[in-house]
Amino acid sequence: MKRNIRYDNKSYVDAYHAYGIFPKIHDNIYSIIANIVPDGLAGIDIGSCTGLMSVRLVSQGVMSHCVGFEKNIKYIEMAVKHDGVSYIHMDICKKTIADFNESLRTAQPKVAVCRRVLPELSDVGLDFVDAFCNVLADNGVEYIAIEGRTPVKNPINKLSSIRHEQAAMSKRYKSVSEYKSCAVMRLKK
Ligand SMILES: C[S@@+](CC[C@H](N)C(=O)[O-])C[C@H]1O[C@@H](n2cnc3c(N)ncnc32)[C@H](O)[C@@H]1O
Repeated sequence: MKRNIRYDNKSYVDAYHAYGIFPKIHDNIYSIIANIVPDGLAGIDIGSCTGLMSVRLVSQGVMSHCVGFEKNIKYIEMAVKHDGVSYIHMDICKKTIADFNESLRTAQPKVAVCRRVLPELSDVGLDFVDAFCNVLADNGVEYIAIEGRTPVKNPINKLSSIRHEQAAMSKRYKSVSEYKSCAVMRLKK
């Protein structure tokens, strides 16, 4: 069986520098954002890792600019540089939620990308996902693009699939489009 290499593999960064190509593992969420979310909005990328999703969205004109939030300093150091893309080293959690809110007040994003990161945020409890959603919604984030984990038998995490992630965000956001393990959700009026 063919397996994808892990999201943080340096070969993705090397391939971008050598050939300008982006990881195929991002194709599904990239497609749903490019097709459903209006072009040219400001964005944030939660758990941006080496930045290849943020850079892809900005370099292709899908976003005007993008701020990546990443808790692991090693990934920030590896992250690809590009005009219009910046990174903030932050472990988004209960302790830093006020800082996260302040960063959004500055960045004024309209789109948030959350690829396979909500299960990690929810490790501390689903009430934190509520608080996280409230910060996005209260700062005017209109669209959230999410990609869920590949389903496994007997999952431990409460957000083990895209359905669980959609349900966890449904107080403030409603699904407007789905594609494979991805969804775009829109702020409820
Ligand atoms: C499964 S990886 C996905 C990386 C990237 N979104 C992608 O799809 O290639 C989750 C990423 O989120 C980061 N992360 C996890 N929890 C975080 C938190 N509380 N605050 C910021 N970043 C976090 C991890 O360090 C990691 O880079």
